[in-house]
Amino acid sequence: MSQTLIEAESNEGVLTLTICRPEALNALNQTVIAQLAEAIENAQSDSNIRVILLTGSGPKAFVAGADIKEFADFNARQGKELARKGQELLFNRIERSAKPVIAAINGFALGGGLELALACHVRIAASGARMGLPEVSLGVIPGYGGTQRLPQLVGKGKALEMILTAQMVTADEAHQWGLVNAVVSPEELMSAANQMAKAMMKNSPKAIQTAIQAVLAGYEDGLNGYDAEISCFGASFETEDFKEGTQAFIEKRKPEFTGK
Ligand code: CAA
Repeated sequence: MSQTLIEAESNEGVLTLTICRPEALNALNQTVIAQLAEAIENAQSDSNIRVILLTGSGPKAFVAGADIKEFADFNARQGKELARKGQELLFNRIERSAKPVIAAINGFALGGGLELALACHVRIAASGARMGLPEVSLGVIPGYGGTQRLPQLVGKGKALEMILTAQMVTADEAHQWGLVNAVVSPEELMSAANQMAKAMMKNSPKAIQTAIQAVLAGYEDGLNGYDAEISCFGASFETEDFKEGTQAFIEKRKPEFTGK
């Protein structure tokens, strides 16, 4: 049996997943990818979990990228398979998670590590964190969605600057560019992430799930985001959460959502 590289801790509806390979700066090897994908998948059907936080162990790194030592002697077929499998198994699943996933970036988020944070719905960075896509410095390109998700957040020009220079940006620069949602001190990182999770948890889980779907539709080939929004909006009217949310407003009380 492989070693457990993902630590899971659940507290009042918030599941914190910590990648535990500090000796390799939490680099994403196949075991980390498989275990993280499994944890995200299990969380989908666990009604006690409302929001997922993702972070890295140790003070130094969120994730320093895909495991360079694991793929150093790969050929083209293996390289393609690495990217395809990683994207399908983990990165797309995080992005499509019905429960919001917040990246708490505690240190270096490089290459596949930044791509992991980009697949999350929201990113909060510790002030000392450094982010970048250094793949071209290794003779390869981002393979876990970075060429697509980074331009969506910071625009094509800034994304190309980061990808082509392979240079890291500071947490403050990342914030200015819209790459991260907030920057806090390292000591405050997990409490800030939990606070954001709590704000989300006041709302309808069903509506949150649908809102994620509608936002993603705008980035999917062959889908019209506005049409998707109209359908998702309409479907909300048939949910128990909608009835409860509107009723609670009218009765001047807090809603008690069931997520149905
Ligand atoms: N893969 C494998 N091992 C890694 C790693 C990675 N991505 N990043 C760090 N490590 C290992 C180092 O090899 C080192 O191990 P040893 O002690 O056994 O030598 C250990 O973690 C500590 O790292 P450093 O000694 O290098 O620490 P540092 O403080 O001097 O430097 C760093 C920190 C700047 C983050 C540096 O480790 C670094 O540049 N890491 C690689 C970053 C990178 O290029 N990431 C992109 C990977 S490619 C990718 O992700 C492809 C994709 O899109 C799918």
